[in-house]
Amino acid sequence: MSSQPILEARGIVKQFPGVRALDGVNFDVRPGEVHVLIGENGAGKSTLSKILMGVIAADEGEILFEGRPIRLRSPLDARQHGIGGVYQEFMLVPWLNVAQNIFLNREPRRWKGLPFVDHRRMHEESREILSAFGLEVDTRLPVKHLDTALQQMVEISKVLSTSPRVLVLDEPTAMLTDREVSRLFERIEELRRQGVAIVYISHRLQEIRKIGDRVTVLRDGRYVGTVNIRDVSDDQLVEMMVGRSISQMYPRSRRAPGAEALRLQGFSVKGGPQEADFVVRYGEIVGLAGLVGAGRTELVRGIFGIDPIQKGELLIDGRKVTPRSPNQMIQLGVGLLSEDRKRFGLALKSPVHWNTVMASLRRHFPRGVVRERKVQSIAREYVEKLRIVTPSVLRQVRYLSGGNQQKVVMAKWLDTKAKILIFDEPTRGIDVGAKAEVHALMDQLAQEGNAIIMISSDLPEVLGMSDRIYVLFQKRIVGEFKHGEANQEKIASLMLGIGTGVKTNAS
Ligand SMILES: Nc1ncnc2c1ncn2[C@@H]1O[C@H](COP(=O)(O)OP(=O)(O)OP(=O)(O)O)[C@@H](O)[C@H]1O
Ligand SMILES: [Mg+2]
Repeated sequence: MSSQPILEARGIVKQFPGVRALDGVNFDVRPGEVHVLIGENGAGKSTLSKILMGVIAADEGEILFEGRPIRLRSPLDARQHGIGGVYQEFMLVPWLNVAQNIFLNREPRRWKGLPFVDHRRMHEESREILSAFGLEVDTRLPVKHLDTALQQMVEISKVLSTSPRVLVLDEPTAMLTDREVSRLFERIEELRRQGVAIVYISHRLQEIRKIGDRVTVLRDGRYVGTVNIRDVSDDQLVEMMVGRSISQMYPRSRRAPGAEALRLQGFSVKGGPQEADFVVRYGEIVGLAGLVGAGRTELVRGIFGIDPIQKGELLIDGRKVTPRSPNQMIQLGVGLLSEDRKRFGLALKSPVHWNTVMASLRRHFPRGVVRERKVQSIAREYVEKLRIVTPSVLRQVRYLSGGNQQKVVMAKWLDTKAKILIFDEPTRGIDVGAKAEVHALMDQLAQEGNAIIMISSDLPEVLGMSDRIYVLFQKRIVGEFKHGEANQEKIASLMLGIGTGVKTNAS
């Protein structure tokens, strides 16, 4: 690692209407290092990364490239300096195919200077680029048909194919499975050895430790400091981020599971879980563990009437129900906080208040006359309760930071007053402080008598929060544990298809 920074930002200030996103921030990255950027939701990480990529301009401060001041007026400017990256929100064009996305604006031509795209070469090279990641994808497929993990990998492959000298990755692993994460880390390691400078944003302290060299902490748009990652403990990092230490990550109040809320019997979903037996009671949090692809998301999609049921029964409050549509399930008191907040959760161009009541308009306004004032005051309550960082409920959701968008999704489902809540990766992309808050909220909801089903890839979270845990492996429930019976090793080995689960009786 060379000690001269290749890219440096000094005294960066960025003001958005009502928010000072960055307030005098310093940052630099050296060739051959992974410089991690951390901070709570809304701290300004993505804003800084976009300034480094030429996507948005700073109001004040300067950017230096190899010691010389430069101006980045556009992503193209940045690319000319060899700066490229992946934004937190996807930038793929959904209806274009994989190859078209990878080569967008730099399509190989059949004849130099003429506008005829060499499709064959484009697809061939795309396949090569993707197979370097061990991905076998049909490059003719529109990217909207790929799942989010694959989309993310296409996006990363795309920037890597431009051989950047500075690579900016904004929460690249948020949507990836463990296997893809380790592939990505191998690539990062390779790039580091080749002298690429890497800016890496993540909320996952474990992975930061694995690949990071230095770490810079932002808090509320302000620069807190830069340290060598080896010199600090996790607790110290957390304290730098949130300005306090967090006492209870997994709160568990006294819960008293009551009547059966939802039961599955021999439940089979097309392309999803087979013969699942499952029960959740009111006042209880049930965790679903399993690798991505084990069938967890399909299970809840089946319950929610999104994917068709092949066999088996679903009972809600002891009554048989045939799930046909999300709407019907909402009427029955079921809410699904879905994994992909962009696609299923939010209307990004609508303000916070409309998003909050989106699924509960009928409950608030049974006569169909909607009063916007009331909607605003409802939303304000959630903004306060969930500590959503936004200057006003009138702000469009797309301007909120990722974690705060997630909280708006939660507000929306809480406002339906659903009694059975399904949380699919509820704390993905959420900072430690907010994570503790989300957990406290789930705990409170359970204590108030709601039934909660939680899918999470974060094992400590599953272990810490759940009263009972079901483990899925290859579309089947392979084990069930009570809180206290389970540990990381037992669950992990079941998730991988080795070992046996304690089948406590669910009835
Ligand atoms: N285009 C925009 N218009 C208005 N406000 C914005 C815009 N982009 C970001 N903000 C605000 O600037 C602040 C910093 O946001 P940023 O996205 O940089 O946070 P972050 O650290 O990346 O958070 P997260 O961990 O949630 O992704 C937030 O308060 C956000 O609402
Ligand atoms: Mg961000």
